[in-house]
Amino acid sequence: MKMGIKIFDTTLRDGEQSPGVSLSVKEKLEIAKQLAKLKVDVIEAGFPIASPGDFEAVRSIAQEIEGPVIAGLARATKKDIDRAWEALKVATKPRIHTFIATSEVHMKYKLKASPKEVLDRAVKAVKWAKSYTNDVEFSAEDAFRSDKDFLCEIFEAVIDAGATTINIPDTVGYATPVEFGGLIGYIKKNVPNIDKAVISVHCHNDLGLAVANSLAAIENGAQQIECAVNGIGERAGNTALEEVALTLNTRYDYFDIDTDLNLKEIAKTSRLVSHLTGMDIQPNKAVVGKNAFAHESGIHQDGVIKERTTYEIMDATTIGLKENKIVLGKHSGRHAFKEKLKELGYQLAQEELDSAFKRFKEVADKKKEISSFDLEAIMEDEISQVPELYQIKLLQVTSSADIATATMQMVVDGKVVNESACSEGGPVDAIYDTMNRITGLDCKLVNYKIDSVTEGKDALGEVIVKLEHNGELFIGRGISTDVIEASAKAYNNAINKILASGN
Ligand code: KIV
Ligand code: ZN
Repeated sequence: MKMGIKIFDTTLRDGEQSPGVSLSVKEKLEIAKQLAKLKVDVIEAGFPIASPGDFEAVRSIAQEIEGPVIAGLARATKKDIDRAWEALKVATKPRIHTFIATSEVHMKYKLKASPKEVLDRAVKAVKWAKSYTNDVEFSAEDAFRSDKDFLCEIFEAVIDAGATTINIPDTVGYATPVEFGGLIGYIKKNVPNIDKAVISVHCHNDLGLAVANSLAAIENGAQQIECAVNGIGERAGNTALEEVALTLNTRYDYFDIDTDLNLKEIAKTSRLVSHLTGMDIQPNKAVVGKNAFAHESGIHQDGVIKERTTYEIMDATTIGLKENKIVLGKHSGRHAFKEKLKELGYQLAQEELDSAFKRFKEVADKKKEISSFDLEAIMEDEISQVPELYQIKLLQVTSSADIATATMQMVVDGKVVNESACSEGGPVDAIYDTMNRITGLDCKLVNYKIDSVTEGKDALGEVIVKLEHNGELFIGRGISTDVIEASAKAYNNAINKILASGN
């Protein structure tokens, strides 16, 4: 029988634990929709007990996303599991994913519990989760640094208690491929009831070995790989979904293993996750980096022109990398706009369409030719919007090498406010000082990033800012052909997110 590997995507849970990342419910839902198009087997939508926002995100994803199993994380406690189930119960295919640490260092210092207590808690948690749903995953946190025989004992016990998937994480990214593969083989051989559960692995990338370790696990019997788009996640991140997928696909001759993934959605998923999380993809990143299919040396270019496979082991079209074609213009109407969005995979309700069309017209007035990448940027900008309690009405900036002045008119909760500020730090600084005066919010700009969506003089500029407010991070985005305006919009978006959060 042909081997198949399940792809468990944790972009929205472990990925969202990346430093500086915080996604709104709407943004998480959009990523989940894209993950469903990519046809991952499982979407880990969040950690419901962690915050009301996490709970709401898991609940909406469970309610709206059809196709993949929807998983929610829970520590091995009744309270966590109850909360996870409350969020997941509306899903067609819910999974409770419960975990407890099994390494000596975690049990002794973090849990202050003996191995026996940990085993009892794990079994109780699985039984409790099982009272809600048949699909229960159990993770032994820090498994790689745990005693092998204790791991086997706890896995045997949780499978007896009803766990349908057992997950073996290398939580701190300490393993090397041969060792990690060996551990999977050992567990497979020494857990008597292992055939009653799916063997899963979850690797972190602290030493840059997460993908290699996951592949070694596959060769030793793992049947599910936990991974995140663009490899995002705690610290150095998780196993990169696209790298595992393309390795299995490109080296099918070696692995002979299938996934159900729709590889053509990889490039789009990667761009969406990068844009909404504000986490850049390094240009030389395997598979999805800007340079992954670029050939710089003359010898390579010559070779590829003569025969692509001289220097390319993958075809860019496999991951859906298409040319950025001009798709619409200044005079395009609502119908053409809707059709193009449909082609790009966006299905909008009437209200959403109206708002996106308005934004499209604003851009098209200035830009004339709108490409598919521009449309994606417009849609991502739409997704990031929250109700605008603060609205920018007028923005005027004068700037010299020494000083910049910004004058703004904003509507604040229905009232018009005019304000201005000068700064020696340039026009963007002057704008942000003005907005701080208007809002009175005590927030700190921790990151400012500007990029162009396409090339050329009239390219759309995209600004992403990260603001810290009361210890929490808020991401704001703004797009415009005028980068000063995009900067103001990004800041305003973040401010409105702060207000929406009630923080
Ligand atoms: O890294 C880890 O151990 C985890 C578990 C909760 C699966 O993320
Ligand atoms: Zn993890």
